[in-house]
Amino acid sequence: MKKWLMAFTLVLGSTMAHADGEKLSVPANQKWKTECGSCHIAYPPQLLTAGNWQNLMAELDKHFDANAILDANDNKEILDFLQRYAGHGARYSASSLRITDTPWFTREHRKVPFDTWSDPAVKSRSNCTACHINAERGDWSESGIKMPGGKRAEESEGRPGSGSNRRSEEYDRD
Ligand code: HEC
Ligand code: HEC
Repeated sequence: MKKWLMAFTLVLGSTMAHADGEKLSVPANQKWKTECGSCHIAYPPQLLTAGNWQNLMAELDKHFDANAILDANDNKEILDFLQRYAGHGARYSASSLRITDTPWFTREHRKVPFDTWSDPAVKSRSNCTACHINAERGDWSESGIKMPGGKRAEESEGRPGSGSNRRSEEYDRD
């Protein structure tokens, strides 16, 4: 029960990251890090629901354009880990099983200028580390965001409660 509560707190922490400067925490599991971090960054468990992870882990032989099949023991250990720390609710869910298609992702990244996603240094939304330069060591905080070519996150209406002018922050590459 306590673990569940902790996972829930982590999820809340990630959605409230902007408001209070907290950062997305990434729980550790060595097998997950090794097996799910070899082709791309090991995507944080909080960013998809338990149901999404279940479906994804059930089809690793047809994993997007890759074959990421694991033996049954490793599959179970990793699925248990992902589900223990999974996100809750529709905003962390996508039928495509892509974090980048979840309402959370779209909202969190709505200020990223559209052409940034196709920038040669980024190529794909899934390429988190193109901008989150410290994510490999579990640090997704805003101070670790560098946009390619010194682009900045777009000004826009802002969100309720974000009275500060942090919207005008610049993301340079230095
Ligand atoms: C053999 C290489 C490989 C391995 C190993 C691998 N993946 Fe992937 N994964 C891919 C490819 C290729 C994509 C699609 C990337 C893209 O569209 O840019 C992908 C995409 C994903 C996405 C969707 C990213 C998005 O766009 O939001 C998730 C989630 C994911 N993988 C989870 C996992 C998990 C969990 C594991 C470990 C069980 C794993 N992957 C292991 C190759 C791999
Ligand atoms: C093109 C650059 C870029 C890519 C690629 C990208 N992000 Fe982001 N991300 C940003 C920017 C910029 C922000 C801050 C948006 C703002 O200030 O409104 C952000 C915010 C975040 C935050 C909130 C950070 C905080 O402390 O507020 C998380 C978590 C996050 N991204 C995760 C991801 C994940 C996971 C991926 C890959 C599946 C990803 N991002 C891909 C640019 C990117």
